[in-house]
Amino acid sequence: MRGQILKALRDCDGYLSGETLSQQLGISRVSIWKHIRGLKKDDYIIEASPRGYKLLSSPDLLLPCEFPDLEQRIHYFPEIGSTMDAARELAKKGAEEGTIVIAEVQTRGRGRLSREWLSPEGGIYFTLILRPRISPAYAPRINLMAASAVAATIRKLFRLKAELKWPNDVLIEGKKVCGILAEMAAETDAVNFVNVGIGINANNPVTRFDKTATSLKDALGREISRKEFLSVLMTEIERRQPLLMKADLLKEWKRLSVTLNKEVRVMSLGEEVIGEAIDIDATGALILKGKDGSLRTVLVGDCIHLRE
Ligand code: BTN
Repeated sequence: MRGQILKALRDCDGYLSGETLSQQLGISRVSIWKHIRGLKKDDYIIEASPRGYKLLSSPDLLLPCEFPDLEQRIHYFPEIGSTMDAARELAKKGAEEGTIVIAEVQTRGRGRLSREWLSPEGGIYFTLILRPRISPAYAPRINLMAASAVAATIRKLFRLKAELKWPNDVLIEGKKVCGILAEMAAETDAVNFVNVGIGINANNPVTRFDKTATSLKDALGREISRKEFLSVLMTEIERRQPLLMKADLLKEWKRLSVTLNKEVRVMSLGEEVIGEAIDIDATGALILKGKDGSLRTVLVGDCIHLRE
């Protein structure tokens, strides 16, 4: 409801009376007043005068009310250990597909392969709970879908050439701007849930010593609207969900990929595999061609680009 009140206040140029709001939204004036009080507590500055309410400013926070279409599905935390842990608990308790856990700051953000994901203020950190009706073998396609959606959002909003590195990094000018971590609970032939954690370096500082990372702020030379980014990204993800098992999903990933046609080294389950990345298969695994022409399929791993 707060999202709808905010939307109504933003859509209106001047003041909006409690009476009009209560008629538009079908709730009592007392409820409107209570929601306004709640918004003020969350640092929205709303002038209340005899002419009505006027929104003067909004905090730079990814509060559920900033996403009126998703509001009911969002679990919001100013600070949390990891959105992955909260999402797993929710999923285990039966949270429905599309539930989202958002945090402004993570104190124990997790990356792939047990790495840490630094998550200071200014970044975008969230986990989306999905319950796809697919065989567990195809679950990595969800990473490809999420990575393509992030790259498409960056391209659409900022005209920056975002590209994809296998398995699921998003790069700008060769530097990582977004990482994706998926956790799955499945039985032999059915997925229970796949939680997709997405971390985007938006306005947060990336460490000066890490030459392999960048942020949207650094790439653009200005801060971005994280609310707008997340809202467009969610639309891009939702648009791709029906395509999960379609060839178009792989086509898009391949079109955006900087890994294909490169000489790469993949550390996979303790083994080093070197070869030319020639394709991905239907499960999202990378196909490498060795110097001797032999083909190897790599399901998971850390990929380093060696040469064109
Ligand atoms: C990677 O190693 O590239 C994956 C990074 C994934 C980070 C995101 S931030 C939101 C979610 N919560 C976490 O603890 N990790 C993921």
